[in-house]
Amino acid sequence: MPRGAAKLQHDDPDPSSRTEWRAVLRLLPYLAQFKARVGIAMAFLIAAKLANVALPLVMKEIVDALDVSQNTAAAIALPLGALLLYGGLRFATVALGELRDLVFGRVTERAMHGVALDVFRHLHSLDLDFHLARRTGGLSRDIERGVGGIRFLLRFMLFNIVPTLLEIGLIAGILLINYSWSFAAIIVVSVGLYIVFSVVVTEWRTSHVRTQNRLSSRANTRAIDSLLNYETVKYFGNERFEADEYDRNLDDWEAAMGRNRLSLASLNAGQAIIVAGAVTLMMILAAQQVVDGHMTLGDLVAVNAYMIQLFVPLNFLGFVYREIKQALADMGRMFRLTDESAAVVDAPDAGAAQAGAVSIAFDDTGFAYDARRPILQGVQFEIPAGKKVAVVGASGAGKSTLARLLFRFYDVDSGAIRVGGQDVRSVTQESLRANMGVVPQDTVLFNDTLGYNIRYGRPEATDAEVADAARLAHLDGLIERLPDGYDTLVGERGLKLSGGEKQRVAIARAMLKNPGILIFDEATSSLDSDSERAVLKALRDAAADRTTLVIAHRLSTIVDADRIVVLDQGRVAEQGTHSALLQQNGTYARLWRMQLDSPED
Ligand SMILES: Nc1ncnc2c1ncn2[C@@H]1O[C@H](COP(=O)(O)OP(=O)(O)O)[C@@H](O)[C@H]1O
Ligand SMILES: [Mg+2]
Repeated sequence: MPRGAAKLQHDDPDPSSRTEWRAVLRLLPYLAQFKARVGIAMAFLIAAKLANVALPLVMKEIVDALDVSQNTAAAIALPLGALLLYGGLRFATVALGELRDLVFGRVTERAMHGVALDVFRHLHSLDLDFHLARRTGGLSRDIERGVGGIRFLLRFMLFNIVPTLLEIGLIAGILLINYSWSFAAIIVVSVGLYIVFSVVVTEWRTSHVRTQNRLSSRANTRAIDSLLNYETVKYFGNERFEADEYDRNLDDWEAAMGRNRLSLASLNAGQAIIVAGAVTLMMILAAQQVVDGHMTLGDLVAVNAYMIQLFVPLNFLGFVYREIKQALADMGRMFRLTDESAAVVDAPDAGAAQAGAVSIAFDDTGFAYDARRPILQGVQFEIPAGKKVAVVGASGAGKSTLARLLFRFYDVDSGAIRVGGQDVRSVTQESLRANMGVVPQDTVLFNDTLGYNIRYGRPEATDAEVADAARLAHLDGLIERLPDGYDTLVGERGLKLSGGEKQRVAIARAMLKNPGILIFDEATSSLDSDSERAVLKALRDAAADRTTLVIAHRLSTIVDADRIVVLDQGRVAEQGTHSALLQQNGTYARLWRMQLDSPED
């Protein structure tokens, strides 16, 4: 499978509505643990609807009791009981609704919590390629919207759509039993028409809504990326270029917004016509019945109340349908993230890797990020337990790739990598990585304090251990000079520290982790020669009783290595000790002479 290239096309491939509904199924397990709460909330919901439907009936009794045409004037008495009942029912509908929300709220939040956590965990389990190809801003928005979608879906699905359908059924039944079938027929037909119309038009609108969202997210991602690259933008004086680009994106979004608004207006207008038509027809029929003496004034009032009562939530139904579609799409997008499967997974029978200063072997290793371009070919060398091996070679030769493979960010395409004699694919990633400390080529820090970033190597370390690690990495001088010491904020991605300072933080936290295997990927490349000498001594001390892989640019830093491997375009060109390689008078000897001429290149 070619990695990277074709794998990740995340701009909505317009999922069919079936996949969208599948999002609901994905949600069910998170609700299942709250069966009792859901049940109680449903009971409150039904009780509230019954109270609501009873209201117009009580109103009819009240009106009829006061109607002079039905009673002799003298017989009219205040229908106090019915009036109190009316008030009680009104209160009950609201109170029962609140109780329902109280009981159910926790279920919603729990589900949101559970889903967000699972998605987050899953994202961390995905391979590096996924994250390199993905825009992080878009990723966080997908989660935010997806989780928001859950709240919306639960709230409106369970407490708007279901109760509204229940209410329609109850009202149609009451009209059918108490009055003529034509009332029930009008209700059923108009509601059916309304729903069909809303669904059809909303489906048609969906593409507009989608386009608008996509354009808005494109504009945002561009803007965030541009701000993240603030320095680069300034270096090249490209502020206007960036603004123009943003402006163009916003133009597109604005145009999409306009189309969206127009389609929304036509939906609302159509719905209003159906509602107005149904209510008018119903009232004409009812008034005729009163004229004919088949219905009382109370009946007319009750029928009117039912119509109004029914179309209030129905009016909402159009909006809710649209939003639920959106919520489902958002949830679908979020759940699709969890469908992304990691390329690197633990074998089912994976055991724990052997800890400590164990040996490392690259055994005829071949690897490519993209099948069309091999990076490593037949790489073969060994680092005996507790020894130090250096890898040198031109930029792009595949040195950092070796480190990434050893850490198992990727799996090899051919051959094997063995740690302590065990194939890295036969042990758990967790145990493999727990035994490795890496100082990467480019250190990125968390936007937190210096102390936090050092302690990240081992969060449970004591203050004394953190201070020790800082001293080893020659950070103590810097920390003393900083007014806020360990509490200094390092800025986004650690940009407030210099390259050399960041590198020393990376060294300190690798020291703090205290692993059996150390990997230094050009770990001192950003240091000046004075601090490099000092840090190298620290690294040498640290490496003394560990298995160490050093990737180096300056050859002077690795002359003491037990073995030096020269990598050239993904192949091992030479290997041996410093003196043996010099004697061989090959690539290494040439590189060495070059660097002697310009030691501070
Ligand atoms: N994630 C990736 N996807 C595709 N190509 C990559 C990726 N990472 C690195 N490469 C390519 O692999 C080659 C080797 O990279 P690397 O091992 O980082 O070189 P170096 O020896 O300078 O450390 C480079 O040409 C680089 O462009
Ligand atoms: Mg590199």
